[in-house]
Amino acid sequence: MDIRKLKGVRKISALTAYDFLMARVVDEAGIDVVLVGDSLGMVVLGACDTKGVTIEDMIRHTGAVMKGVRNALVVCDLPLESCVSVSRVLVDARKVREITGCGCMKIEGKPELVRALVSAGFEVMGHTGLKPQEADTFKVQRGDFVLDEAKAIEAAGAFSIVLECVPADLACRITDELRIPTIGIGAGVGCDGQILVLPDMLGLNPDFKPKFLRKYADVYGVAKNAVKRYKEDVEKGIFPSASESYGQDK
Ligand code: KIV
Repeated sequence: MDIRKLKGVRKISALTAYDFLMARVVDEAGIDVVLVGDSLGMVVLGACDTKGVTIEDMIRHTGAVMKGVRNALVVCDLPLESCVSVSRVLVDARKVREITGCGCMKIEGKPELVRALVSAGFEVMGHTGLKPQEADTFKVQRGDFVLDEAKAIEAAGAFSIVLECVPADLACRITDELRIPTIGIGAGVGCDGQILVLPDMLGLNPDFKPKFLRKYADVYGVAKNAVKRYKEDVEKGIFPSASESYGQDK
C-alpha cells in the first residue's frame, strides 16, 4: 500500500492495533494503515505513559499484528529507549524487521533518526505536534515550530507524518505545505488522513474522553455485560449445558 499516492485522492484511514485478533478485525474492515503504537504502554500494559515501553514489547506486539494483517500497511512505533541515538535506532529497527517482517517504523520528532533509518532502507512515518515520549502534560501544540519540524521530517525522507493535538487551521497549513500525507489525531478534518487508538474509539475505557475522540462503540459495556451473564450462568449451574459438554468416548 503506497500511502503517498493517496494524498489529494482520498482520505487515509489509520488505527492502532496490538494483537492478532484485533489486527485482523481492523484489516478486514479495510483500514489503510495499522500502527502498533507505543500507546500499548497505556492501553495494553496499564502504564500511565509510553515512556517505559521497550523494544521487546514492540517486537512482540508487532509480530502478533503482522500475523493478523493481509492488506494494510503495518507500522511499528519505535519506543523512547530506541530513539536515543542513530546507532541504537538502527540496531532496534533491524531487530524489528528481522523478527517480525515489518520494515516500516514510526519516530516521534528527531529528523536525524528519520534520515538514518531511510538511508538504511526503512520506510518511516514521522510524528510531530504533541509527542508523548517527550511531553509531561497533554497540551495542544500551537506555533510555527510544529510546521518547521514537519518540514524537517519530510526533508529527512518520511513517507507520511502524524500530527497529534494541533489546531485544525495549523494542521491544514501543514497539510498544504507538505508533499507527504498528514495523518491527524486531534488535528481536525483538514489532514490527509485520521488515526485513533483502537481501544479508545471502541469505547473500551469509559474514563478516557478527550475532545478529539469519537467513540464508535461501547465495547466496555458490551464486554462487562457478557462477563456478568457468564458469572450468573456459572453460579446458577446452567453453564455449560449438555450440548456444550462432551459425551462419553465410544
Ligand atoms: O502510540 C500511538 O498510538 C500513536 C498514535 C496516537 C498516533 O502514536
